[in-house]
Amino acid sequence: MSAATAATAPTDVILSTGGLVKRFGGLVAVDNVALTLERGSVLGMIGINGAGKTTVMNCVNGIYKSDAGSVVFNGVDITNRTPHAIAKSGVGRTFQVPRIFHRMTLIDNLMVTELDSADSDAVLTERAEQALARVDMFDLRYNHGEELSGGQQKLLELARVMMFDPELILLDEPFAGVNPSLCRLFIERIRELQRGGKSFLLVSHDLTSIYKLSNRIIVLNQGQVIAEGGVDDIKSDPAVIEAYLGQ
Ligand SMILES: Nc1ncnc2c1ncn2[C@@H]1O[C@H](COP(=O)(O)OP(=O)(O)OP(=O)(O)O)[C@@H](O)[C@H]1O
Ligand SMILES: [Mg+2]
Repeated sequence: MSAATAATAPTDVILSTGGLVKRFGGLVAVDNVALTLERGSVLGMIGINGAGKTTVMNCVNGIYKSDAGSVVFNGVDITNRTPHAIAKSGVGRTFQVPRIFHRMTLIDNLMVTELDSADSDAVLTERAEQALARVDMFDLRYNHGEELSGGQQKLLELARVMMFDPELILLDEPFAGVNPSLCRLFIERIRELQRGGKSFLLVSHDLTSIYKLSNRIIVLNQGQVIAEGGVDDIKSDPAVIEAYLGQ
């Protein structure tokens, strides 16, 4: 490739939003948010409680219908498609408060997301077992969801995401309430998945972990993007320091 071609080559964007707005009555929870996530990278999203981070994720994966703006995934406009359609197109998600089935075994917790799969039960079971092994929970596969600690529930959600192998993974507070050894395991898996080409939108109040993992960071405050850049730029950005110190 010539130098001229390289200089003009477009970046490979897997996810972008433009002018995204979500209102709850008079509250503008997401206020004209534009973000860009390059394929194979981790975009960290930070901001104090109520800044709008979870709401952005909910607009991206279709849980909320946005009031304005667009969400483009892999070059396709997916704005306000159903969560199921967005998941099927290759967007996985874990939740701030884990959404697992307490009365089901861990294996069934994973299998249930693949109900419309063309694969046989035997194939799906094997994939579920492999996914559980990757989060060190193979031995717990016949235990019920309710027997898991909060941290294990978060890892179960990660296993569920890995089971259907999405290109883009949205992680909402994966480290909150998770003990240090499970946190390390979670971080190891994120890095491994990233090395395998996966892309992440990562929300966390754990700034140490998010600074360690993210290629770029976006900072929200009262629904608006107040800063965006590399980790070092964000750490020293006066608007970010003010938003955090002023809380
Ligand atoms: N379903 C809803 N109905 C009404 N208001 C909502 C709803 N979901 C979120 N909000 C409000 O929107 C704003 C943004 O909330 P959001 O949960 O996105 O913040 P967040 O940045 O994820 O905060 P946290 O760090 O506490 O998780 C908050 O003021 C919140 O109260
Ligand atoms: Mg949140």
